[in-house]
Amino acid sequence: MLIVGNLKMYMNYNAVKELIDNFDEDVVLCPSALFIPYFLNHKYKVGVQDISMYDLGSHTGEISAKQAKEMGVNYAIVGHSERRKYNKETDEEINKKVIKGLEEGLNVILCIGENKGEDKEEVITKQLLNDLKNVTNFDNLIIAYEPIWCIGTGITPTNEQIETTISFIETKIQENFKKHVKVLYGGSVDKDNINVLKKVNNLSGFLIGKASTDYRQLKDIVASLRD
Ligand code: PGA
Repeated sequence: MLIVGNLKMYMNYNAVKELIDNFDEDVVLCPSALFIPYFLNHKYKVGVQDISMYDLGSHTGEISAKQAKEMGVNYAIVGHSERRKYNKETDEEINKKVIKGLEEGLNVILCIGENKGEDKEEVITKQLLNDLKNVTNFDNLIIAYEPIWCIGTGITPTNEQIETTISFIETKIQENFKKHVKVLYGGSVDKDNINVLKKVNNLSGFLIGKASTDYRQLKDIVASLRD
């Protein structure tokens, strides 16, 4: 099971230091880019929360896949719903980021998922087809199914709902790209619901936001999944 912590912009320096001093497990942690050097050379792997769709060049504030890779980063989250919403990222841009990340040898975690009231299958199909356009090598691609209505809300879908959606994603990828992908679930995963969520049969792991910023809780989650 792949466990990915999306630390978002939750942590200040002291919190980062505490996590680093007390946590060393085989997971992937995606901190604010500023703190990445502190996260290197531990048991966990390191990811960025976003990458530029461009190569090196005049792009103020951006981080390229090449730079991330050079620094020892192995993973990149791409197309997170918060970036789709607040940074107005389009599927076209996300597609370019996915391709850049894969080209540079990063493991790309593409986030997809519907909002409340939206047609889940329609949204997911559109995101998969547009975000993965012209992608041919799926070896380092991971999909994270993150229903927007579950992110930071304390609500999770039922295991049956997650299982059905993951099957749907796998079928769409098979139909359109003739490939197999790993699918993670993300949205309000914590130490209290992990024992239920881990029973979903077709899951390859979890993308964990808020709960991953509390290293004690993250340890509990890791322990439950390694059981
Ligand atoms: P959450 O966030 O676990 O805090 O709901 C998950 C995510 O946005 O990746």
